[in-house]
Amino acid sequence: MSTYTIDTATSRATPTPAPMRRLTVPKIQEMKGGEPIVMLTAYTMRMAQLLDPHCEMLLVGDSLGQVIYGLPSTVPVTLEMMCNHGAAVVRGSWHALVAVDMPFGSYEGSPEKAFESASRIMKETGCAAVKLEGGEAMAPTIDFLTHRGIPVIGHVGLTPQAVNVLGGYGARGKSADEAKKILADARAVSNAGAFCIVVEGVMEQIAEKVTEAVPVPIIGIGASPKCDGQVLVTEDMLGLFERTPRFVKRYADMASEIGEAVGRYADEVRSRSFPTDEQTYRPKA
Ligand code: KIV
Repeated sequence: MSTYTIDTATSRATPTPAPMRRLTVPKIQEMKGGEPIVMLTAYTMRMAQLLDPHCEMLLVGDSLGQVIYGLPSTVPVTLEMMCNHGAAVVRGSWHALVAVDMPFGSYEGSPEKAFESASRIMKETGCAAVKLEGGEAMAPTIDFLTHRGIPVIGHVGLTPQAVNVLGGYGARGKSADEAKKILADARAVSNAGAFCIVVEGVMEQIAEKVTEAVPVPIIGIGASPKCDGQVLVTEDMLGLFERTPRFVKRYADMASEIGEAVGRYADEVRSRSFPTDEQTYRPKA
């Protein structure tokens, strides 16, 4: 099934407004040290349409496990989930580079296993890149993928797929040894060919050092303004959850807005004031 066009047969689908060439991997690389790179997560076609004009990159993050599926962590997320949501986001965007997360268990076993999973993601979604978590240990895999036509975004610092090893989601790099390790991880991932790196949940000094030390763009999440760009989980910054991590700024209060709208709808259904004449089909007189 082709995933590259939007089905305009239903009145809800908005066709691509202006066919444009998407941002490419080299264009993102050129942004190192320049204008900050704007990245947000997207999991659905409609959200992708709304975010796309504002972002250089859209990330189909495995955070969809918690945000969309109500799972306790990203560990149970499957390749099938990532492919389905990745294809929807590609269909809903036309400008941003779309990257899809490789889920836990789909790449760590061997570089060959990673290639099989990443190529499936790229074929089934039409995305331009994959993201995978891990530093020095994943460098040979990143090297294998990038030499076989698969652009890779690295992810170091707090790596949520390793929550069972880390014991939680606290910020990383509080000790000198941990800080040294994060820098070594970022260097290894960059040397292996990653075209940019997400650095999550680290002290500002580490983010600053990493951004200075590696030649590819560093995209921070909970990693200070010292990075080359920023990414957030969209549902967090839109205020769809009551509780969010400290590093999230809420730009809207959508949970309250939805609650109010749905409350009004429920009241009107119960009082029979919805639907009105305006929303009712009747034979023409
Ligand atoms: O899964 C995700 O959404 C991510 C971002 C938080 C970077 O990896």
